Amino acid sequence: MIRVLLLSGSVATPAHTHALIEAVAALLKQTGCEPIIWDLRERPLPIADPDYHYEPERHPEQVVQELVSLAKAADAFVLGSPNYHNSYSGVLKNALDTLNMDHFRDKPVGLVGNGGGLRSTQPLDHLRIVVRGLLGVAIPIQVASCRHDFERQADKYVITADDLKQRIAAFTQQLVTYAVKLKA
Ligand SMILES: Cc1cc2nc3c(=O)[nH]c(=O)nc-3n(C[C@H](O)[C@H](O)[C@H](O)COP(=O)(O)O)c2cc1C
Repeated sequence: MIRVLLLSGSVATPAHTHALIEAVAALLKQTGCEPIIWDLRERPLPIADPDYHYEPERHPEQVVQELVSLAKAADAFVLGSPNYHNSYSGVLKNALDTLNMDHFRDKPVGLVGNGGGLRSTQPLDHLRIVVRGLLGVAIPIQVASCRHDFERQADKYVITADDLKQRIAAFTQQLVTYAVKLKA
């Protein structure tokens, strides 16, 4: 069983980023994987404390211990972010700074992001460098969306763009392929 931890890095309500993360998680489930979503809006983390950088499991706050134990157990990750000033969000960086290389080493990481009016790859490009620093393996296919790809329905965003849906399917397939290969 492939376990995938998906970090949703938007604190907006509702969030396009969360819709992307939900879509990937649903496809992962269909392929027999176990997706675990951590929404940083619903489960905020304290500011990353360098005192616990090498042993984050010793952090006194339970919410950090939970994230660390999920990250340890994960075979793969998905990182999702809105575009904030041509990069990814601070809350996502804080989550990544709460973790360390032991959690990411040789594990595949999929990148998804939403921009305001344009599909921007900048946050994903920046995340790709960060993933390398964490010794993870950022997969080649990534997902970049913008607000025109969604429709607001009640309290959530729903993906309407067909090309985006196809992209998410190809992305998820590639993530699973990498996860199976790297776990073997
Ligand atoms: C602090 C901040 C900075 C932003 N910077 C950009 C930007 O540089 N480029 C852009 O296209 N959108 C920018 N936006 C718009 C967000 O990208 C957009 O609202 C977000 O992707 C919506 O996704 P979400 O619903 O998942 O939060 C910014 C929004 C905020 C709050």
